[in-house]
Amino acid sequence: MLNVLVLVSGGGTNLQAILDSITDGRITDAQVVGVISNNPKAYALERAKAAGIPGQCISPKNFGTREEFNAEFLKAVQSYEPDLIVLAGFLVVIPPEMIAEYRNRIINIHPSLIPSFCGTGYYGLKVHEAALDRGVKVVGATVHFVDEGTDTGPIILQRAVEVQAKDTPEILQKRVMEQAEWKILPKAIDLIAHGKVCVTDGRAIIEE
Ligand code: GRF
Repeated sequence: MLNVLVLVSGGGTNLQAILDSITDGRITDAQVVGVISNNPKAYALERAKAAGIPGQCISPKNFGTREEFNAEFLKAVQSYEPDLIVLAGFLVVIPPEMIAEYRNRIINIHPSLIPSFCGTGYYGLKVHEAALDRGVKVVGATVHFVDEGTDTGPIILQRAVEVQAKDTPEILQKRVMEQAEWKILPKAIDLIAHGKVCVTDGRAIIEE
């Protein structure tokens, strides 16, 4: 059984997709053991509560220095003894010591086809605004392992989504979530739970 810790900052629709996938059997041999948010008002915490999963808030705002926060954040994460950490819309930079301790055991969902529209500053609606500004016809989402860079780790799964003529950033964001994010994030967790993902030479290899 893969013990999964989910880190969130907002609405938690990706968390919900994970929980629903466990309930309906699209993810097997995995359970969510906890949810950590940096935002006390994140609706994701309500979703955790409704599912009977321990949730807690730990925010850099409540610490004098980033080092103090990083140390307490790492302790909080370790307390769940996770096999896999899932960043599901988590907006805090992961401390390097956490990346080192959980190398290739932290995954992130990013709402673009990496390497397009990713890296510093590309988060939330900004990603979709940039895609529409550039006039691309295909967008999508990516699940990748987290390394020391921003959106630079080994890519596990991607799914493409078509842009439509009347799209606004909000409409496009919703379609990318529905058609890509909520599908590939649970799928990646299921693959990892069954030992089907390995990283070789900086690339994730999937055994189907
Ligand atoms: C998603 O678009 C995710 O790709 C991005 O942040 C958003 C989180 O949404 N990193 P939610 O909190 O899962 O609803």
